[in-house]
Amino acid sequence: MSMPRWSVQPVPEMTPEQYDKWQNLLEGRTGNHISWQHRSILQANLAGRMRELGLSDYDTYYERVTAADGSLEWTTLVERLTVHETRFFRHPPSFDLMTSFLEQRIAEKQQSGLELWSVGCSTGEETWSLAMTVCQLLRQSKQVIRYSVTGTDISLKALAQARQGEYARRRLGDLSPELQQRYFEECAGSTLRIAPLLRERVCFTRVNVLDLERAPMRNMDVICCQNLLIYFRPWRRRIILGQLAERLAPGGLLVLGPGEITDWTHPDLQQVNNDQVLAFYRL
Ligand SMILES: C[S@@+](CC[C@H](N)C(=O)[O-])C[C@H]1O[C@@H](n2cnc3c(N)ncnc32)[C@H](O)[C@@H]1O
Repeated sequence: MSMPRWSVQPVPEMTPEQYDKWQNLLEGRTGNHISWQHRSILQANLAGRMRELGLSDYDTYYERVTAADGSLEWTTLVERLTVHETRFFRHPPSFDLMTSFLEQRIAEKQQSGLELWSVGCSTGEETWSLAMTVCQLLRQSKQVIRYSVTGTDISLKALAQARQGEYARRRLGDLSPELQQRYFEECAGSTLRIAPLLRERVCFTRVNVLDLERAPMRNMDVICCQNLLIYFRPWRRRIILGQLAERLAPGGLLVLGPGEITDWTHPDLQQVNNDQVLAFYRL
């Protein structure tokens, strides 16, 4: 029995022209930039999808994706070209900061409630971690206050997983037994499901950060945007950060991943004085 042609053939090399075309399409539609040095990532992901479609050259596939009826194929491809790696409470120092910020904010916002936003939430771990943080604080302080957490992403597949809220037990490794017990319920096999008391506070929706002007989020108390902008060029990071800053409530907190932007200031923001965390308060 002969092997399928694709499985024995190496991933085809792109010409510089093909790289430009694909890179411009990806960056223009998602902001994600893949440099020429890292083109093997682009090639491998395109080739993987082309193999499924029985296509063998980048130009034919490009025409299919950019055709008038190519939007479905583009949606499929985006899943491959975006990085979805994430974890619960991924960067503990950032969560420590958000916890102490929220503790104070809860005391101040008894009447109006709290709004939190996880931008580029992937499969939901960050969003659920934010919800657990608020829920724990309310429990400890015995206060009742309205709050909601929104997770947004460009990837429909990641959002579907986030909404489902089911995670293999091994993915909960860093969560204390107390959190596991309180915020998850047993599901089939070695899977745990997010408990209803968090589900009723959380929603997930598709937002491309290149279209933030159309996003309805306003007056956010916390915006957490980690490990998304690192895939963008610095000039684009600045534009998006400016737009996120406008969506913070007065006194709100914007949390990025350490080192994700340097030499950036905004007239309405003040950087948090903390070596381990990159975050800004809205004045
Ligand atoms: C590496 S994950 C980060 C997940 C989480 N924030 C964390 O730090 O663990 C990056 C996420 O950004 C999303 N993303 C990439 N480009 C995007 C865009 N233009 N708009 C919204 N989300 C985007 C990807 O789909 C992916 O789920």
